[in-house]
Amino acid sequence: MNQQSYFEKHLNLNVRGLPVSATLGINELSNKLRAEGKQVFKMGLGQSPFPVPQPVIQELQANAHQKDYLPVRGLPALQDAVSEYYQRTQGLNFNPANILVGPGSKELMFILQLAYYGDLVIPTPSWVSYAPQAHIIGRHVYWLPTQRDNRWLLTPDELEKLCQKDPTKPRIVILNYPNNPTGCSYTDNELKELADVARKYHVILLSDEIYGELDFEGRHVSIARHYPEGTIISSGLSKWCGAGGWRLGTFAFPAALDWLLEGMAAVSSETFTATSAPIQYAAVRAFRGGTRIEEYLKQSRRILKAIVERACTQLNSKGAIVAPPQGAFYIFPDFSPLKEKLAARGIRTSTEMCEKILAETGVAILPGSAFGRPEHELTCRIALVDFDGAKALAAVERYPLGEALPEAFLVDCCFKIVEAIDRLCDWANGS
Ligand SMILES: Cc1ncc(COP(=O)(O)O)c(C=O)c1O
Repeated sequence: MNQQSYFEKHLNLNVRGLPVSATLGINELSNKLRAEGKQVFKMGLGQSPFPVPQPVIQELQANAHQKDYLPVRGLPALQDAVSEYYQRTQGLNFNPANILVGPGSKELMFILQLAYYGDLVIPTPSWVSYAPQAHIIGRHVYWLPTQRDNRWLLTPDELEKLCQKDPTKPRIVILNYPNNPTGCSYTDNELKELADVARKYHVILLSDEIYGELDFEGRHVSIARHYPEGTIISSGLSKWCGAGGWRLGTFAFPAALDWLLEGMAAVSSETFTATSAPIQYAAVRAFRGGTRIEEYLKQSRRILKAIVERACTQLNSKGAIVAPPQGAFYIFPDFSPLKEKLAARGIRTSTEMCEKILAETGVAILPGSAFGRPEHELTCRIALVDFDGAKALAAVERYPLGEALPEAFLVDCCFKIVEAIDRLCDWANGS
């Protein structure tokens, strides 16, 4: 046996064969094609196109000297700011001591699954990383079906059916809204009905609200309003504050889940120790909000809404079916109505479809199968983020708030998206 194969034998079984996260994989492939001189429209990775708001950047600059390790659960001023943020935006009361800060909500989700012994329940489609995290840790994953015609949302009946089978089994259910990959969100009433089932079976809800502030109308509602005792709200700076690379996420725990917070804090203390100090100081400014941040959010939502709506209308007109999003920057078209036409072009799975689209149009998108959809369903996620967010935010000020943004704005500021969607439409048409 040579040395290499000897060492390979010691790769943890749960990690063996695990590919790099699908979103990061498509980003690397897009960069490679670009480096080879090919034109690539990067619509695979879901990164905010907008710059971090100026007041938050200034706060980071002012705190670059902060060098000490901070408490494992987070900077007390940040815990206060996050608790006050939920009071202000959702009318929810979280004890500041029950806010856990981590280096990205993704890391916190991993530690949650490590600390909590129970099955993971996720609707399909769901964000690409929940299931691999469970797989690495060795937790069982249940995918619950959803329907395109119901905006890919989990229904209370589906949750009830699963819980009924074994009513006392410990479970974490992850709900994500506005959703990645669909952009769809639940109504207040839909949340209430889901909350009733969760309460009945003592399910722990992880409510992933990282896109909450990107609800197009600024009317995001947390399910914690209906099931405060059993809901952990997950959020962070990555999406609404344009700061994915800063790596800061937050979990807000109800008092009844103190024991779980304690378990997670213990694991955190043995792994990441504490989140970057300057970033936490800057995050205080972000969560405190105020006029400039409100303005930034209003304009971001307006731009995203215009882009998303235009893309949906165009793709719908070519025969794809897109459930209309309420927030975030994704759409999840289903090309199944074109199934026969596409089969004649050798396309039978969502992966084949996305590979062909990248090769023939230069548009990089992710197949529905990466989000837990069946391979033969011709769905895909398009992240509508390949534009200069700073330029768009500056230009949007010319158009009074409340007015819809004209086509000319999109053609000027989001021309790559306009072209990518045009290319996709031509491609769907068969040209
Ligand atoms: C639905 C969803 N949840 C969580 C995350 C993780 O965000 P972060 O680790 O940057 O806080 C992402 C990032 O893409 C996401 O799309």
